[in-house]
Amino acid sequence: MAVLTVYFSMEGETIAPGMKIVNLKKGHTAVAAEAIQSAVGGDIFEIETVKTYIADHMKMIYEAKEELQKGIRPELKKYPESLDSYDTVFLCYPNWWNTLPMPVLGFIERYDWNGKHIIPVNTSEGSGAGRSVEKIREVCVGAQVEEACKLRGSEVDKRIAQIKSWAKEKVSS
Ligand SMILES: Cc1cc2nc3c(=O)[nH]c(=O)nc-3n(C[C@H](O)[C@H](O)[C@H](O)COP(=O)(O)O)c2cc1C
Repeated sequence: MAVLTVYFSMEGETIAPGMKIVNLKKGHTAVAAEAIQSAVGGDIFEIETVKTYIADHMKMIYEAKEELQKGIRPELKKYPESLDSYDTVFLCYPNWWNTLPMPVLGFIERYDWNGKHIIPVNTSEGSGAGRSVEKIREVCVGAQVEEACKLRGSEVDKRIAQIKSWAKEKVSS
């Protein structure tokens, strides 16, 4: 079984519990995705936008809201030519305004997901996966889309061992 771990994540400013702004060297979702890939093997692909989001977190969240409201799909730096060789995809993304970040939506819309097994992995600061799984099911026609693994972003660092054993179990079942 060929496994791909795809992720979108942002380093830099983010909100930590207590509404504190912290600066991350690596985004929470990236940390979770790397743990998954190291546990299950296979390939890893980062969804990266050509554009750079505003560094100031409190401004950036409104930039992202505008993208969502206008239905903008930001251009990505690179796209896998095809996902044909994979049957299982861990799709890792943060909750943005209660749904998928638009770069992730743009990514999944490009591919044929028929017959694939998608395991969504979401990080958030409290609202869980929101409406994201519904959206993945709508876009990824013909795929078996599991319920999301919901992680609190600020706790990912403490949960690496748990994430790894969960991911291993997922691919062995
Ligand atoms: C644009 C934006 C919108 C967000 N919206 C929500 C939200 O609706 N609910 C929530 O719990 N967290 C929300 N968050 C917090 C992120 O989901 C959380 O910090 C996540 O772990 C960030 O992942 P990353 O570090 O990999 O980018 C939002 C963050 C951003 C940047």
